[in-house]
Amino acid sequence: MQFAHGVTTASDRPMKGRLVGVGVGPGDPDLVTLRGLELLRRADSIFVPVTDTGEVGRAEAIVRAHLGSAEITRLAFAMSDESSRARSWDSAGAQVATVVAAGGCAAFATIGDPNIYSTFAYLAQTVRSLVPRVSVETVPGITAMQELAAKSGTVLVEGTERLALFPLTAGLDRLREALEVFDTIVCYKGGRDLPHVTDVLRASDRMADAVYGARLGLEDEEILPVSQLDGRSGPYLSTVIVPAPRSGRGSKL
Ligand SMILES: C[S@@+](CC[C@H](N)C(=O)[O-])C[C@H]1O[C@@H](n2cnc3c(N)ncnc32)[C@H](O)[C@@H]1O
Repeated sequence: MQFAHGVTTASDRPMKGRLVGVGVGPGDPDLVTLRGLELLRRADSIFVPVTDTGEVGRAEAIVRAHLGSAEITRLAFAMSDESSRARSWDSAGAQVATVVAAGGCAAFATIGDPNIYSTFAYLAQTVRSLVPRVSVETVPGITAMQELAAKSGTVLVEGTERLALFPLTAGLDRLREALEVFDTIVCYKGGRDLPHVTDVLRASDRMADAVYGARLGLEDEEILPVSQLDGRSGPYLSTVIVPAPRSGRGSKL
């Protein structure tokens, strides 16, 4: 892609033997970057993940909103147990390797950013092991954390504050620890554990400004203060932000 002042971008490089993880944002098709879109348009093959966790079809729907009837190959990823996971990475990697080994460019569209808790990392490792000369790259995407911050009017960090992002699958003790050590906390993959998250936030007196966002950018999006969840759990696509306590303008400088 070329801009008026002559600057060129990653999508101008030769497309041969490349695997590109393209972050397509959390849900709204208008949060795809120009670079991501250009790479998806120019790729020889577009792949999307299909998982058993609730993300089914999300990346594909975002790509389709821009590229209509483009040919898209679904790669099935199992999340249930270690051996199914390994089998699905091997099988997905082998399909993508066929494209790059033949000198093509394979684009893998993934929700949010490809370098944040994305299947892309495992896919890229597998493809590299099969085609060592492959060039692996990523196009950054807007994360669910950023979209929830924007839609709820939450400042993520200011001044000298520290930010912790982790999945609640790491356990509630990780949340308790993070509340002690960091300023702003963001939790992914916590839909099922929301009632426990609420308890921990109440016990540590951090409930006041905490926000919850589910299925951001999708038709049934929900954004609420955590204090209004009333013990409910949420879907897999749930994000919680617990902002740093602040006492006024520039208080953390
Ligand atoms: C496998 S991680 C993918 C993260 C993604 N790569 C990113 O950069 O945001 C899945 C988790 O991201 C969060 N997430 C992704 N999309 C979301 C959405 N549309 N609404 C709410 N949370 C979302 C949820 O916490 C979900 O459990």
